[in-house]
Amino acid sequence: MAEARERWGSRSSFVFAAVGAAIGLGNVWRFPYITYQNGGGAFLIPYLIALITAGIPLMILEYAIGQKMQSSPPTALRKIWSKAEWIGWFAVVLVFVLSTYYATIMAWCVNYLYYSFTQAWGTTGTEISNFFNQTLLDKSGSPGILGGIQLPVLIGLAITWLLIYLCLFKGVKTLGKIVYFTVGIPWLILIVMVIRGLTLPGAINGLNFYLTPDFSVLLSPKVWLAAYGQIFFTLSLAMGTLIVYASYLPKNSDIAANAFMTSLANCGTAFFAGFAVFSTLGYLAQSMGVGVPEVATSGLGLAFVTYPAAINLLPVAGVLFGALFFLLLLTLGIDSAFSQVEPVVGSIVDKWGFNKKWVLPAVVGFGFLMGIPYTTRAGFYWVDIMDHFVCTYGLTLVGLLECIVIGYVFGAPKVRKYINSVSDVRIGPWWDVFIKIVTPIVLGVSFIFELITLIRKGYGNYPIWTAFTGIGLIVILLILSFILSKRKGGNP
Ligand code: PFF
Repeated sequence: MAEARERWGSRSSFVFAAVGAAIGLGNVWRFPYITYQNGGGAFLIPYLIALITAGIPLMILEYAIGQKMQSSPPTALRKIWSKAEWIGWFAVVLVFVLSTYYATIMAWCVNYLYYSFTQAWGTTGTEISNFFNQTLLDKSGSPGILGGIQLPVLIGLAITWLLIYLCLFKGVKTLGKIVYFTVGIPWLILIVMVIRGLTLPGAINGLNFYLTPDFSVLLSPKVWLAAYGQIFFTLSLAMGTLIVYASYLPKNSDIAANAFMTSLANCGTAFFAGFAVFSTLGYLAQSMGVGVPEVATSGLGLAFVTYPAAINLLPVAGVLFGALFFLLLLTLGIDSAFSQVEPVVGSIVDKWGFNKKWVLPAVVGFGFLMGIPYTTRAGFYWVDIMDHFVCTYGLTLVGLLECIVIGYVFGAPKVRKYINSVSDVRIGPWWDVFIKIVTPIVLGVSFIFELITLIRKGYGNYPIWTAFTGIGLIVILLILSFILSKRKGGNP
């Protein structure tokens, strides 16, 4: 290769970048809610087991692939097995689709940050819900009716992609400095939010709701699937991100320690964020004179409707906390967002040897264009649908294929030998068992389980053709990955 590979400035830059990729919007709205929904405090048991049996082993695997092969996912997988390049491309095209809708959620945050200064979203819960659903998104009522483009969302999207570009264009060394801020700032804000939350009246009810264990749920397979799904999403596994980040490390970096640090920092942050969210929900419920379950909405509604409603009720500094919350989401999300772009750029550069200076703006521009459909009045539905199909089917397939290629074709003991040659902590044969048996079984079962549910019930309350569109998308991405892997590369 003509040019030397880009490098992180230091090991801590890498760890911060990986932690930043992991900690994202998913930690603030998804983890606390999934925890509550699946048995509160008891959910931490399957969550930790998922972390140990699948999250950490797969993270070690991805770090090892990137670091040993010193390449982005497609090239790295080709070096492992000449027939496996398409798996790398599959991860890359999936993460590209993910980045287009993730940036749209960020675009909503940009709008909310702007509106938080005037609290334009209104004061009552109904007003805020109307603000989100009608004023900002003007939801069309069906994914089939696109309606027009919502200009403020489009502007937010342009700002988001511009931010992504600005973070990435100076290269990995500079990125390694930016991540100190994109990880540090949200942590500081989170500490403030937790303190504020815990000192509000009614906070304790929210925490009881979040953490009271219901051990009976441990018998339900759905809870276990939820735990594994959350671990994969939150650690940014099977998306190429960790492989490309690790490929900028020298070959002798300590893989095991890096994997333990990243995953523990991420899961610790998610747990901590739950205190901020649920203490505030406890306060909201008490102020409204209702029970916590009535205000605990899931997913996007929590961030864009419930939380602003709680903030409005704060006796002092509501404006400040409104702005802080959306600044929190933006700073949490931005390093996840650019971690979704880097594998796409890195893979193109590695395969064809093009100049990164041109590939990055091309990918950013294309990502922005592909995001425009989400700025229409049907955008909300498509964010939801795409998220379901990319994360449920795409991510599980990639994880499964990675385990098979490493576990059976390349040989898990060989990879483990390499990992142990660079790590302080020795990884035992247990790792082979997880990579060859446990993780693939979990992923395979959850894939089949989800597919059966889809066939029986479709996804959500959407018309059935959306399910075909989702599955069609996955199939098209698979074909595209094969085509890309067959193209001649410019690099050996
Ligand atoms: N882990 C991120 C979150 O919890 O929000 C989401 C994510 C980022 C998924 C990067 C995948 C990825 F490649």
